[in-house]
Amino acid sequence: MIEQVKKYIEEVRSFQPKTLDELEQFRVKFMSKKHGILTNLFKEFRNIPPEQKPEYGKVLNQLKSLVEQKIKSLKAQLEDQQASRTDLDLTLPGDSLAVGSRHPLSIVRREILDIFRRMGFIVAHGPEIEDDWHNFTALNFPHDHPARDMQDTFFIERNPDVVLRTHTSNSQIRYMEKHKPPLKVVLPGRVYRNEAVSARSHYVFHQIEGLYVDKDVSFADLKQTLLLFAQEYFGEHTQIRFRPSYFPFTEPSAEMDVTCTLCGGKGCNVCKYTGWLEILGCGMVDPNVLANVGIDPEEYTGYAFGFGIERIAMLKYGINDLRLFLENDKRMLDQFQYL
Ligand code: PHE
Repeated sequence: MIEQVKKYIEEVRSFQPKTLDELEQFRVKFMSKKHGILTNLFKEFRNIPPEQKPEYGKVLNQLKSLVEQKIKSLKAQLEDQQASRTDLDLTLPGDSLAVGSRHPLSIVRREILDIFRRMGFIVAHGPEIEDDWHNFTALNFPHDHPARDMQDTFFIERNPDVVLRTHTSNSQIRYMEKHKPPLKVVLPGRVYRNEAVSARSHYVFHQIEGLYVDKDVSFADLKQTLLLFAQEYFGEHTQIRFRPSYFPFTEPSAEMDVTCTLCGGKGCNVCKYTGWLEILGCGMVDPNVLANVGIDPEEYTGYAFGFGIERIAMLKYGINDLRLFLENDKRMLDQFQYL
């Protein structure tokens, strides 16, 4: 038996596994509690003649500690080897994750809202499905105004009192009905008009409405706010100009132009050689509108402005067809960064 144990010692000494699996088989073979070689050899102890017992015990303990040592050191060694496998090429580029990108309209909307937020405006929202009061009547639209015609406005289920809002000005009314002045708010959203789809017009687009109502708000406040906005968004050398215009809900009303973002005012084909680009509509909130929402026009005045996000995105990114914003063509969308 002693010879047998010595043979095992030799076997263990020369054991050189290549994988952790082989080492595990070796461990089971020797150490398994039930049928492992060591267990069996220890069981044999009682059959060994008494005079051989000390010797047998000695070699057997040798074998045991050798097996234990061997397993411990080989395990560490094999795990090390596996971690530094040479068939892994660490210089290969990784798999890139498709993270998607922000829609250009979202990027522009966020940039614009950020500027107004920094000037103290709060961001709020109004509904897209609206009634006649909020979309038209409270905004001082006369009953025979052409915007109330089916040709210009989408009505829902032929009910003339339910429309898809034609502008974000409905949100002005809703906001003023709920909040008392002073109020300073920007209201972004999607708007609808019954128009044929082409490169220059669409039945759905986006606007941002601005509204400031307080004591002694003047047209000079409006001009200064919009000048700061234009210089912040289009660049510090941007200039603005106002042209008289008409909206039922503002008096006086104006259209605001900025110096062409492409040529800086010299004249090019984007500004049709005028040096100016029309950006937004604005004016002083009509006293009738304030009265309609229960704000005393003798005590308060306000200004409002509204502009299309598509128009600004088109100028910023040189996009020349409105339809591109809504087609969800990945080749278009992939050109914008994820922010
Ligand atoms: N609602 C107007 C439009 O859609 C824009 C506007 C808003 C004008 C606020 C003046 C004041 O054209």
